[in-house]
Order: sequence, then C-alpha cells, then structure tokens
Amino acid sequence: MKPSKAPLIGADAIARRVAELADSISHDSCGRELLVVPVLKGSIIFAADLVRALSVPLTIDFVRARSYQGTRSQGSVEFLVPLSEPVSGKHVLVVEDIIDTGRTTAVIMDRLEAGAPASLRLCVLLDKHEARVKTVQVDYVGFEIENHFVVGYGLDYEERFRELPAVHLLEDE
Ligand code: IMP
Ligand code: MG
Repeated sequence: MKPSKAPLIGADAIARRVAELADSISHDSCGRELLVVPVLKGSIIFAADLVRALSVPLTIDFVRARSYQGTRSQGSVEFLVPLSEPVSGKHVLVVEDIIDTGRTTAVIMDRLEAGAPASLRLCVLLDKHEARVKTVQVDYVGFEIENHFVVGYGLDYEERFRELPAVHLLEDE
C-alpha cells in the first residue's frame, strides 16, 4: 500500500483551515486558559500547528488510545496513556486526527468527562461522517471526507506515512 501521488487535501489548504479553526477556538474560549489534549499519535502534527495558531493561554497533556490495526477499525478500544494531570475545573480541548466510527473518541471523551472538567470540547482535523457507529459531539471539524483510508499529516498506515505534509489516499502498489 502507498499514498496517492496527488494529495486529497494539500498542505496549503490544511494550513488555511488550521488557522480558521484556531480563530474559532480562540474566539469561543473568551481568553480562558485551555488544557489542550492531543490524542497520540495521529494528532501530533495537527496539534503542533493548531496550538501555535491559538491566541489563548494553554497547557498541553496527552492521551493515547487505539482501535485500529491496518485499515480496519477494531471493536474494542485500548486506553494506553492516561493524562498526567487531573482535568477537574479545566477547559479541555481534545484534538484528534480523524473521527471514523467514533468508538475511540467516545471512550476518550467519556474518560475525560468523568474527571469533571469545567468544559470539554473536541476538535478533529478529518471527519468520516458516513462511518460513524457511535454518536459523538464534534465541536470543530477541519474537513469532512468520504469513507476512504487516508495517510499523512500525522495519520498512519501501520505506523508509516505520518511525516507527509499533506493528506493522501492510501492506494494499492
Ligand atoms: P474510530 O474509533 O473508528 O473513530 O477511529 C479513530 C482512530 O482510527 C483515529 O484516531 C485514527 O488513529 C484511526 N483512523 C481512522 N481512520 C483512519 C484513516 O483513514 N487513516 C489513518 N488512521 C485512521
Ligand atoms: Mg492510527
């Protein structure tokens, strides 16, 4: 399997959209400090760009969860890295690379909600709306995409292709 030659979403389009998302998030945050929670590993590139475009004070902490092997979403979700700080009373912004079935994100949001944050919002770069089996409230969406497997800008296929600057479809060799 390999990334498509032409990107599905180019680096410039991503950069423009990230700036728009950051403006909306900053505006909605009304100057309140955010705890930004990127979901490892897929969201690191997106989160790195997003936090640098936000204009509110913030701290960063990570969670890691996984429901995928290869290109198939697994039924069960593994929670691998819990947060290092409590979220109680904080304004939490979860940053995800992609929401597909919604299972992984639902588990993460439930865990965080249980920690009694002051507010809890979710920002995803990509939304594969058609594939959803679990309802999750998504507050900020970069791009809606069709139900294809994509790589690049943090997203992997078997841990590869995260370093690509744009989002590509995954194709047969
Ligand atoms: P969900 O639990 O089915 O919503 O899957 C969410 C997770 O699966 C994401 O955080 C990604 O790590 C992974 N994932 C889903 N679709 C893709 C894709 O097209 N490319 C790469 N990873 C994906
Ligand atoms: Mg992944």
